[in-house]
Amino acid sequence: MKFFIDTANLAQIKEANDLGILDGVTTNPSLMAKEGIKGNDAVIQHYKTICEMVDGDISAEVVSTKFEDIIEEGKKLAAIHKNIVVKVPMIKDGIKAIKWFTDNGIATNCTLCFSAGQAILAAKAGAKYISPFIGRIDDSGWDGMQLIGQIVNIYDIQGYETQVLAASIRNANHIIQAAELGAHVITSPLEPILGLLKHPLTDIGLAKFLEDAKKFQ
Ligand code: E4P
Repeated sequence: MKFFIDTANLAQIKEANDLGILDGVTTNPSLMAKEGIKGNDAVIQHYKTICEMVDGDISAEVVSTKFEDIIEEGKKLAAIHKNIVVKVPMIKDGIKAIKWFTDNGIATNCTLCFSAGQAILAAKAGAKYISPFIGRIDDSGWDGMQLIGQIVNIYDIQGYETQVLAASIRNANHIIQAAELGAHVITSPLEPILGLLKHPLTDIGLAKFLEDAKKFQ
């Protein structure tokens, strides 16, 4: 399972990348706004910087919602770097655009997926990734992880090549469960990734080892 970090914060991207386990980055308009990135030039420069930091797929989201505009915006994003994956929302024009990008050799990540039906359409259109939003489904009283399992199963049965990218991760357990269900990728903020490191018995065990080590040093 690939690990993407879900942020536009360069310090956090660096911290995850320095761990040596990072395979890519996802961003969205809210994450870019959070970092104060404003204006077309600043957006492009920010994506360039991320692409230079991390050797892997970097999702850059379009903000257009009409087919022609999505194509124009997506082409400009894809031209920034060979590793850019154009992130397209799950809407009718988005699906048409994903098919166009697929036919023209541009990789896509279909975002804002909340159902198996949407995931089937994205796969048919040739998306490289489908992003079901686990946390937001959980927030609504449904079961986000159940959707991951359902999509993984459908893609397996149908032989679709689209990769299931578990998104809207809120905690370390989401990452573990996504791995158990066969998600191909998770995208997570830094904290849940670092949460995977933690276990109280590790801390207790290490403290004891270090204490005993003093006896023979
Ligand atoms: C990633 O591609 C998504 O944009 C992101 O995971 C959404 O997460 P959120 O629900 O925490 O905003």
